[in-house]
Amino acid sequence: MAVIAYIGLGANLGEREAQIRAGLAALGRVPGVRVLDVSSLRETAPVGGPPQPPYLNGVARLETALSAPALLGVCQQLERDAGRVAGGPRNGPRPLDLDLLLYGDERIDTADLIVPHPRLHERPFVLEPLRELGVEPAALPRPARPLVVADPEEFAALNTGWLHGRCRTGLVPTMGALHEGHASLLRIARQTCDRVAATIFVNPLQFGPKEDFARYPRTLERDLALLAREGADAVFVPETSAMYPGGFVSRIAVGREAEGMEGAARPDHFSGVATVVAKLFALARPTHAFFGRKDAQQVAVLRRMTRDLGFPIGLVECPTVREADGLALSSRNVYLSPEDRRAAPVLYRALRAAHAAHAAGERRAEALLAVARGHLAQEPRARLEYLELRREGDLAPLAPGPVTFARLLVVARFAADGPHPVRLLDNLSLGAPLDA
Ligand code: PAJ
Repeated sequence: MAVIAYIGLGANLGEREAQIRAGLAALGRVPGVRVLDVSSLRETAPVGGPPQPPYLNGVARLETALSAPALLGVCQQLERDAGRVAGGPRNGPRPLDLDLLLYGDERIDTADLIVPHPRLHERPFVLEPLRELGVEPAALPRPARPLVVADPEEFAALNTGWLHGRCRTGLVPTMGALHEGHASLLRIARQTCDRVAATIFVNPLQFGPKEDFARYPRTLERDLALLAREGADAVFVPETSAMYPGGFVSRIAVGREAEGMEGAARPDHFSGVATVVAKLFALARPTHAFFGRKDAQQVAVLRRMTRDLGFPIGLVECPTVREADGLALSSRNVYLSPEDRRAAPVLYRALRAAHAAHAAGERRAEALLAVARGHLAQEPRARLEYLELRREGDLAPLAPGPVTFARLLVVARFAADGPHPVRLLDNLSLGAPLDA
């Protein structure tokens, strides 16, 4: 069955037009490929990549009996034959570029190939030649990025499609009210994965009865803009009733990692976190999942859950993103009054002071804690809830003796006597270079 396909043509090194013509001629000699029509070629400024000469661009219409992956393989071979070297810079200069733009009216979304070409609508040097060949781009499906999915089955199917396309898929679970901390998780995910899905779900199971579930900031429009900017492929925004339909009773039990600190202050919190993350893992079946070190105990609990239940998922722990004055970004920072906002960096200052004391040779746990406590005591707006030194990694209680490699974790409440106290968390590794 012959299919009509459109190939983007480009070159910006060497004899540009001759290389494009030679590439087309070679394409026409491949069994199962017939070149039907070629647009005019036009000179175009390069998009992205290093400084480089202008391109010559156009589009060709083909009739082909080859499958889309086979046609892609032929195009890549012809690019290599024209002298293109693999492993050059992204969007770098090239003697020949053959992009599969359209393949009949098929939609393809695999690790190697997305058709229609995802950036087709943004590129006049593709749109104009397509129009010349009689294709009206406005009539083509325009893949929304991010794809917004509310239905759990649809989200599962989307991820299954990516897996079948041999994509590495990254999951970035969030509760929304996205900020630069979340953005950094998305960026790290994009470096590792072919497709990245975020989730936005304010999970009632992880909030206590007196906590801020109802007040938690919900800023979906802004969140979608941030996700688009960071190149997320999809975002899952389920209703509570879709995640926890009537009769839902199962809970993940958590153990040692959830003892003390957040686990003591918020009794069912980590069981709620583990339950929702397990459910998201089961739906999306990502190859990788990304979490912030800012919530270090959460990472320890989720590592244990992932290992115990055997999810074949790589957990990636990402550094904490901070404001210029050291305050760790948090969706809850918007609750701080201007005075509390000015006072809040004391948490990071206290951690840094302990880090400096450790770097200067202090190895006694009590002395390190006293250094941090001294800083916190200078700020009456911060009501210290806990300050703990734990073993680096699994955050188990420290063995007695000199502190070599440990993490210092702090939580303080601001506006502690008002109706809406704000709890802020932070932590820092001692015995390692400053790790944010
Ligand atoms: P949320 O607080 O929205 O955080 C989502 C992810 O962003 C978490 O992995 C968190 O550690 C990370 N993050 C938050 N602030 C950060 C910062 N300043 N720098 C780097 N990363 C940061 O944590 C949750 O949601 C929920 O418990 C969730 C895991 C989604 C389960 O409901």
